[in-house]
Amino acid sequence: MQYPYQIDSAEAYQKAWQKSVEEPEQFWSDIAGEFVWKKQWDKVLDWNFREPKISWFAGGRLNITENCLDRHLEERGDQPAIIWEPNDPAEHHRILTYRQLYHKVNQFAHVLLNNGVQRGDRVCIYMGMVPELAIAVLACARIGAIHSVIFGGFSAQSIADRLQDAQARFIVTCDGAFRGGKDIPLKDVIDDALVTCPFVERVIVLTRTRTPVSMIKGRDVWWEEEIHRVETMGNPPVPAVEMDAEDPLFILYTSGSTGKPKGVVHTVAGYMIWTTYTFVNVFQYQPEDIHFCTADIGWITGHSYIIYGPLAAGATTLMFEGIPTWPDAGRFWDIVDKYRVNMLYTAPTAIRSLMSFGLGPLQDHKLDSLKVLGTVGEPINEEAWHWYHDHVGKRKCPVVDTWWQTETGGIMISNMAGITPEKPSYATLPLPGVQPVLVDENGQEITGNEVSGNLCIRFPWPGMIRTTYGDHERCRQNYFATYDDLYFTGDGCYRDENGMYRITGRVDDVLNVSGHRIGTAEVENAINMHNGVVESAVVGYPHDIKGQGIYAYVIFSHEISEADLTRRDIAHTVSRIIGPIAKPDKIQFVPGLPKTRSGKIMRRILRKIAEGETTSLGDTSTLLDPGIVQHILEGKIH
Ligand code: WTA
Repeated sequence: MQYPYQIDSAEAYQKAWQKSVEEPEQFWSDIAGEFVWKKQWDKVLDWNFREPKISWFAGGRLNITENCLDRHLEERGDQPAIIWEPNDPAEHHRILTYRQLYHKVNQFAHVLLNNGVQRGDRVCIYMGMVPELAIAVLACARIGAIHSVIFGGFSAQSIADRLQDAQARFIVTCDGAFRGGKDIPLKDVIDDALVTCPFVERVIVLTRTRTPVSMIKGRDVWWEEEIHRVETMGNPPVPAVEMDAEDPLFILYTSGSTGKPKGVVHTVAGYMIWTTYTFVNVFQYQPEDIHFCTADIGWITGHSYIIYGPLAAGATTLMFEGIPTWPDAGRFWDIVDKYRVNMLYTAPTAIRSLMSFGLGPLQDHKLDSLKVLGTVGEPINEEAWHWYHDHVGKRKCPVVDTWWQTETGGIMISNMAGITPEKPSYATLPLPGVQPVLVDENGQEITGNEVSGNLCIRFPWPGMIRTTYGDHERCRQNYFATYDDLYFTGDGCYRDENGMYRITGRVDDVLNVSGHRIGTAEVENAINMHNGVVESAVVGYPHDIKGQGIYAYVIFSHEISEADLTRRDIAHTVSRIIGPIAKPDKIQFVPGLPKTRSGKIMRRILRKIAEGETTSLGDTSTLLDPGIVQHILEGKIH
């Protein structure tokens, strides 16, 4: 497959970026013309950021699975679409060619139809990293159902919240999931979640771990038996439902600074074009390259760069069920050599964790197939960047540091491998279609170079968020109300002397723990569920491996006799309410919290204490009780 929109030089990048700003409609309609449509669009772009209203390719009709599957059958039907590496290296890997994947997606699309799923229905997918997860996602897209994948690490309560918000009547899950040495009982967790979700009509269960499960009559069915039914019908192909360009493709929940996670909605055409365009250009994908993105499909990175971007580009995508450190810290390198992986895309937290094992696990690995390395999800420190570049890439692979968000659908600011310059710890330059703006607290644009500010985006791009499910006002409030006529990212950013961007981290109350987004308010709500807790405040602090750790200040209702036990109880509560990823690393019991006279918690002070600052805590004179700060300092957990 040729990509006429593939940028092949720094000059071509400059020209493309310029054109995307000056003639965005022409620019994007040329690219859209490279995809398969059932009907041409009427209007390329219609937008305002006030409502917000964003519409790309209105009137166009298509199905994303025809772009990801059908159109490749003739030319590359026998090429691997998905290579799957199991958790246990002793188990056999699986390869699905484009033809096989097409067949399986059709089969499962039929299963969904047989079970009453209709276009527009929300289907929740809660599975481990098995090929059937990708198959379920694509099968939903084939029949126009809206998938909502939930990361396998979330708890029953988190699932129930999401099911209720999306009013999902259908669930696809597994008996269990393997992750490293663990076996996670997914179906059990679903059963717990469904206690408060009586509207769920059907649960389709794939066998993976053979963990015993209870199947509820009339509600739960086995994946394998349902497939068998379709086989006895003779496997009729399922026509790809004709979707409007702006019909929702999926909902993905993500944390914000307030309240419960919001359902970010992406639509069919814009998301498809954005993920494919960015995949091909950032990684400089060449036919037959093998792309290994280590993310979980429960997060946006997996959606965009394991499934949709690579498959729409006709690429070979590698999906890994396990974790980087099991059975040992050489697992990624085993996989790279085993399949001769060309592109490795992972998170700084994984790199730092592997770094801590030294160079031993890298020895005996060639890694000579690698051409491009990528990072995503959090700022990468220079040390980790160099380790990745020197020891994994052997100084011959460009490292692309890709900045983006669930809300942006795909990569926004990044170098393009071997095409535009790299700079350690810098995401570098905006991709064509992206117009970054730095603003100060008052919303004044900060121009010029060597400046810092809050990162906003000025103009719509095809892959951007359209709404938050069921609550458009929340979308407006969150992203479009802080600054007039700008999309606000929630990130802080520095622009260097050459106009290159360095993302410095969140400026709102969102933590980034091991690349996972977690709202401090969510963690506080979970801690407060513990019956001894009166009040709590959660902040982030620098953590060598996770990037950020979670530090919780907790006011307890009575004298604590066994502090460690109580800490464990509280951590367990958080695990039950949200999931293990949100467990606080440090819990400090405090007699009070630093509050202003109006009752607002001064998080700035708490953040500084958690970071280890002892003296310059800033102005504490506006506090209701300045003495509390000294108390907290004395009890600091190291
Ligand atoms: C952070 C993940 C620095 C950022 C794709 C953003 C990054 C949040 C980078 C989104 C990067 C992502 N450098 N920070 N290259 N990439 N971030 O929605 O704070 O899970 O706002 O999307 O991760 O996280 P999300």
